[in-house]
This record gives sequence, structure tokens and C-alpha cells, in this order.
Amino acid sequence: MPSRCEQPGLEEAAQSLAVAIDGPSASGKSTVAKALAQALGIPYCNSGLVYRAITWSLIDKGVPLDSQSAFKTAVRQMNLECRIEGNELRVRVDGREPGEEARSPAVNAAVSRVAACSWLRRRLLPIFRRLAEGGPIVMEGRDIGTAVFPNSRFKFYLDADPRVREQRRQKQGEADSIGERDWEDRSRAAAPLQRAPDAVLIDSTEMTVDEVVGRMLDELRKRGFPLPKDSSIR
Ligand code: DC
Repeated sequence: MPSRCEQPGLEEAAQSLAVAIDGPSASGKSTVAKALAQALGIPYCNSGLVYRAITWSLIDKGVPLDSQSAFKTAVRQMNLECRIEGNELRVRVDGREPGEEARSPAVNAAVSRVAACSWLRRRLLPIFRRLAEGGPIVMEGRDIGTAVFPNSRFKFYLDADPRVREQRRQKQGEADSIGERDWEDRSRAAAPLQRAPDAVLIDSTEMTVDEVVGRMLDELRKRGFPLPKDSSIR
């Protein structure tokens, strides 16, 4: 039986209510995307978690990331499950969730290299799109507005001053070279981090989370997103 994505027209219909939020590391995407999804009463999906879970599993299995064939074989053998549960994305690899390991220094250091693989990105595209088949969703990442849901009318590009982003990461107590990761994410050939021409640019450097979410809700209203009656920042 064809999946809903294989039936003409339906994939586009699913995409039409996907809210895409892209931007560099520590620009506030996750916090804002979660708060926006909560205000809208719809699921929140952190696409980076999928790249992180795969990277975690590869490291855990001792797969050499510089060997294309070992990498592809290991990914092919993975049982990757991505599901929305309780309005949030849960990712399991071979039945296990990475938990806090998804943000370990080893994963932080390797994930951009894994995410740069065009072969892997092609495999993940239908998985991300399928998540929007259940109804409206807020999805954040690097290529959501440009590659995953290019037809969505609801796109945001969140940015912030690099020094402020670095400080935010330090406050979270994470060892993460965000400058290097941003460079890798922007300069890769496959679906690099970039602002979609029709994405609303929001610089969060001097804005609170509530201000950013408020701005997004205004924009969604203007663009015709079906807001619930009580959509407010909680
Ligand atoms: O958002 P994050 O820091 O958890 O993402 C982890 C890495 O995954 C990041 O370096 C870029 C990559 N990524 C990507 O290439 N495309 C996405 N849609 C999401 C994340």
C-alpha cells in the first residue's frame, strides 16, 4: 500500500501546516520552537535529535566515521524509530534512546560530520516529512524551510549574535564549539544551513523567548495559519 507521501497531493497538504524554524546552533531554536508548539497546541520536533541519535549510536558501536562503507553499512543496519509521543519527537536506535548522551562532547564534536552526508540526508527526508502527516507540527533544524518543507508558507530563520550564542551554550554547561559546527553546517554541499528566501528573519540577540514567540504568532496569523482560540504564550 502506498504511504500517504506517495499519493500525489497529500505530501504537499501535509507540508502546508508545517512550521519550519531554522538557524545556527544556540540561536534559541529549541526553546522557542517548544514554546511556540505549546502555544499552538501542536507537536514539536527537534530534527537535530535524529542526527544526534545516529551519531551517538555510531560512536557507541565504534564505527569509524571516516570510512564511508563502514558508515553506510552501520546506518543501513540501524533500526531507527522516530515517533511523536506526547507532542514531542522520540528517537530510538535499535530500541534505545540516547537520553543525555545525545548532547555529550563526543556527539557534539562529530554530529556535523555525520549530518553533512548527502546519502544520509536523502534517507532521512521522508522520515521527517512523514512526521507532518499527522497534522500541524513545529519542526526546527537547519534545512527545514529549504529542503524538508520547502512548500510551507510558515518559515522562520532565527539568529543571534555569535558571542551571545556562545554564552548561551556555556550557561547550559555544554562543551560545544559552536563556531566550528556552524561553519561545517553552512559550508557543506548537502542542504547547508541557509535562510529560505521566504523565511521571516528574527534576530533574538536582545529578545526574550516570549517576545520571539509573540512575533512568530503574529506572523503565523498574518500568513493564515489556523491558530487555536487560546493561542498564547504559556
Ligand atoms: O540542532 P542541533 O544542534 O541539535 O543539531 C545537531 C547537528 O545536526 C547540527 O550540527 C546540524 C545538524 N542538523 C542538520 O544538519 N539538519 C537539521 N535539520 C538538524 C540538525
